[in-house]
Amino acid sequence: MRTIRLGRTDARVSAISLGTWSYGGASKAGEQSVGWSGQDDRESAAALIRAWELGINHWDTADVYGNGHSEEIIGSVWGTVPREDIFLATKVGWDRGGYPRWYHPDMIRSHVERSLRNLRTDQVDLLYLHHCNFGDQGEWLPEAIATLRELQQEGKTRFIGLSDWYSEKIMRYIGEVDPDVVQPYRNVMDDTFQSSGLKAYCETRDIGVCFFSPLKHGLLTGKYRKPVTFPEGDYRQNVPEFQDATLIQRLQEISRKLEQHFPDHPHPVLHAVVDVLLTDATTGCVLLGQRNVSQVETAATLGQSLSAEEAEWVRSLYQNSDLSEISR
Ligand SMILES: NC(=O)c1ccc[n+]([C@@H]2O[C@H](COP(=O)([O-])OP(=O)(O)OC[C@H]3O[C@@H](n4cnc5c(N)ncnc54)[C@H](OP(=O)(O)O)[C@@H]3O)[C@@H](O)[C@H]2O)c1
Repeated sequence: MRTIRLGRTDARVSAISLGTWSYGGASKAGEQSVGWSGQDDRESAAALIRAWELGINHWDTADVYGNGHSEEIIGSVWGTVPREDIFLATKVGWDRGGYPRWYHPDMIRSHVERSLRNLRTDQVDLLYLHHCNFGDQGEWLPEAIATLRELQQEGKTRFIGLSDWYSEKIMRYIGEVDPDVVQPYRNVMDDTFQSSGLKAYCETRDIGVCFFSPLKHGLLTGKYRKPVTFPEGDYRQNVPEFQDATLIQRLQEISRKLEQHFPDHPHPVLHAVVDVLLTDATTGCVLLGQRNVSQVETAATLGQSLSAEEAEWVRSLYQNSDLSEISR
């Protein structure tokens, strides 16, 4: 597995890093499905160990993934995987902890302490603010960032990160947070990372970048032949594109083109849609969700950037005007 330098952290992490949201299993926040159905704890643990064996050395989790269960699974493998071999990241923010507003300092502290217990470690490498809902005027940000800095000084995290589904929101707060790493949403159908100015900002300041949901939760593999519904507790219930027969058919057509174009790669579609994200991201890695050993072994074949010409061609397939209309 190729490694990249994660910006100013100076850490060498795998170009394809491991997202462990699904290891939390099915879960709900109020009425909303926020987890992944059908996950088996033994498969999760086996996937972690195989990832380590194959050099996938950066693992991403959060306090809310299965209400701490994803973290617990990670904490369970240190008997086999040396803790120091892994660049370990977790997040805080989506569970208010009973407070009426986001990011109460007491919530942050108690959740981070719980994450460390779940993860069976004294320190994580990276601690993110999971979203950018800091109040209408950003009024909750100063306390939130002060709390993270205190935790950093106490040695509970080495680095600070900032995340959100919207790169524009990260841009609004990045100056005040001054994160070492950002975690934006990016896939071949959505490049607000670039259009928002976040890409240029990170390059200028040597900020590490971890792209999340590179496969749009599996949709971009091209493996779906018809619309699919997911059980209660599965986040993909909320993603309308899984119901869109026209889009799914177009993704199949594109997949056939990619298979013809990259015949020598064992996983041509994944190579195209994942590795395209690395082409123009000098301090960037991809957080790919890998649910089992087979998906880890596939992930291990990825991580070589496409050339600029190949990347442009791959992007053009997905930027076709019909497709962007459908996916909006
Ligand atoms: N900061 C944030 O707000 C945020 C938000 C979302 C995600 N994330 C992070 O980013 C990570 C990845 O994002 P994601 O989980 O949304 O999804 P993703 O990486 O876009 O897609 C992962 C899913 O695709 C399917 N898949 C993976 N490899 C495959 C293969 N070789 N063949 C066929 N299917 C394959 C699997 O689901 P099936 O097997 O069920 O099809 C897998 O769970 C998360 O785990 C999390 O760490 C962060």
